[in-house]
Amino acid sequence: MKAISFDEKTRVFSLRTNNSVYQMQVRDYNTLIHLYYGADVGDCEVDYRIVMLDRGFSGNPYEAGDDRTFSLDVLPQEYSGYGNGDYRINAMECEHEDGSDAIALRYLRHEIKPGKYALEGLPAMFAREADEATTLDITLADAASGLQVHLLYGVFPKLDVITRAVRVLNAGEKVVKIKRAMSMAMDFPNMHMDMIHFYGRHAMERQMERMPLHHGVALVESKRGTSSHQHNPFVILCDHNASERSGSCYGFALAYSGNFRCEVEVDQIDQTRLVMGIHPYHFTFGLRPGETFETPEVIMAYSEHGLGGLSRLYHDAYRSNLIRSRYVTSPRPILVNNWEATYFQFDDEKLFSIAKEAKDLGLDMFVLDDGWFGKRDTDCSGLGDWTVNEQKLSGGLKRLVDRVHGLGLKFGLWVEPEMVSEDSELYRQHPDWVLRVPGRLMSRSRYQLNLDITRKEVRDHVMDQICGIIEECGIDYIKWDMNRSVDNVYSAALSADRQGEVFHRYVLGVYEMMERLVTQFPNLLFENCSGGGGRFDAGMLYYSPQIWCSDNTDARDRLTIQYGTSFGYPISTMGAHVSACPNHQTGCTTPFETRAVVASAGTFGFELDLTRMTAEEKAQAREQIRRYREIEPLVLCGDYYRLTGPYEKKNYIVWQFVSKDKRETAVCGVMLHGEANPHIHLIDLDGLLPQARYQDLDSGRVYSGAALMKAGLPLPIARGDCQPILFRFKRVDGE
Ligand code: GLA
Repeated sequence: MKAISFDEKTRVFSLRTNNSVYQMQVRDYNTLIHLYYGADVGDCEVDYRIVMLDRGFSGNPYEAGDDRTFSLDVLPQEYSGYGNGDYRINAMECEHEDGSDAIALRYLRHEIKPGKYALEGLPAMFAREADEATTLDITLADAASGLQVHLLYGVFPKLDVITRAVRVLNAGEKVVKIKRAMSMAMDFPNMHMDMIHFYGRHAMERQMERMPLHHGVALVESKRGTSSHQHNPFVILCDHNASERSGSCYGFALAYSGNFRCEVEVDQIDQTRLVMGIHPYHFTFGLRPGETFETPEVIMAYSEHGLGGLSRLYHDAYRSNLIRSRYVTSPRPILVNNWEATYFQFDDEKLFSIAKEAKDLGLDMFVLDDGWFGKRDTDCSGLGDWTVNEQKLSGGLKRLVDRVHGLGLKFGLWVEPEMVSEDSELYRQHPDWVLRVPGRLMSRSRYQLNLDITRKEVRDHVMDQICGIIEECGIDYIKWDMNRSVDNVYSAALSADRQGEVFHRYVLGVYEMMERLVTQFPNLLFENCSGGGGRFDAGMLYYSPQIWCSDNTDARDRLTIQYGTSFGYPISTMGAHVSACPNHQTGCTTPFETRAVVASAGTFGFELDLTRMTAEEKAQAREQIRRYREIEPLVLCGDYYRLTGPYEKKNYIVWQFVSKDKRETAVCGVMLHGEANPHIHLIDLDGLLPQARYQDLDSGRVYSGAALMKAGLPLPIARGDCQPILFRFKRVDGE
């Protein structure tokens, strides 16, 4: 079966993955009508789904003459225009030179090509081999303005993933201002679905919320210049009764790290339309004749096997065809980060003493966080001055790096390239290099300002400094932070009519800087961060294989943060560290072992003063590292199952990793509190071979896969709060 086909007679496009089908049809007046996306329907075109009726107060295109049944207001469309009788949320909106804003998109031509389209300066999924993906490029045209809208589809049959993006070409003769260009639109024939999205705040990101669709518009969005802590650009639509193991689920992930909007509207006849893309807030983009604009990509997946099935599709797709880093499936260095150990108060001897302990414990890397550069003793100053603070690091950074390398450890470094402090040499020299609205006072956040990285000279200045340090000192890992939302949105380098481009150009600037980092240093391990998980999105994963999941390191809070994150992102992308107790963010205490089990569901590390650990804690830490290394291949490459979730009325949260060959599994979790006269909690495992035999590596007991999945496994009886759960099984039947 071909990944993409076009039936010349019926004019139906069929896009096929191993387990899903997507259909659309060129119908009357060359209107591109969406027919279907979902489970395989066999060799059948489902254009019979379109039932034409005369609808009151729904207008008709002029070409339809007296036919009052052809109305764009009710027909499912592949990509809706503006001002043409469709009153629902639209995909595109423009402003023409004469002040009009209508746009009527009609099918012009299409092309089917092997391989996957790429987007200029934007992250996107890629095909390693040409036969991994096929591209469909459908051109829609607005006859009056000459605007051409290329709908791009990337079909990855084995991954069950279809990507979408839009390239707009001004093939007319006048300037057109794009006011809205969503990456995709999708119409569903009913509203029988729930919407799941991931909201939050700083230090409490990606809390899952599930709600039935309702009439009117539901939306998630960011206007903060980043994808944000507040809403994640990943949304699921699923059956009302979809569970972890069953039910139809659609995922929509925007590979973009700036302002976004996902709108879901249920219309007058209970049809649903979803659009997703760059937020129209403070957005316009001018296109002169011959110029193009490309939207970011939406990565769509469909699973009939519930939310768990959908998540595993995303995990596999990102690991194989989105994250470029060579570390994506290879063991990551286990690190210690000095942030929560010292904050800004350190000198080279203090840092080296932590590094020595790290070596003694068997860690692989020491990471020097904020405070090593410029005049940076608090968060009030120094950002932008990427020169070493020799008052803290006597003899310079290279000396410290060499000493740490001498221990046999790698060396990681924190940077925040997009920012500047008013109290910095950079700001004193270039006060015009910040985003600032003329004649107005600026809004500050953490005492810092956004550099105007829409400007190439600003990007180059910062990156020359940072890349110089990486090169000179032999840095092995970079943590790229971003600690304020984008505001004061105005660039002194752009003309008045281009100010609506600043937010998007800012994101393009970030991507260009990151591209330089990863191409200049292909062996560098790169971790993203934005006050924890404020920019945890598919766009960032194209550049970095891991992202600091949250500034909240409390193990109990991490249960919901990492749970929410796991719906759309591989476990191997979540930076997770064991920190000190009482926890610095919450003041709460959880057992050391529990902190390690929770941090093991991510890229494992420590974030505390190792020199203050007791001998007993050190022995425990060594054991934690050993156990993490054992399960690490499952965390990096295996299948992930959420066996229970934090929103169920259960006293435990349990997840499971299974190796792709189903020979190994680890069951991890937390028993939330000890029970008097306790219940026996049996948990059903998942993803095993029913007939295979699995041995519990601690007790030695052997079970059949079927027994573990159907009869369940008794969880340990807990005493006290937040007790760890960890079982490891290996297949032992010799097959
Ligand atoms: C952010 C990060 C932290 C730490 C601090 C340093 O909040 O998320 O991990 O690096 O900045 O200022």
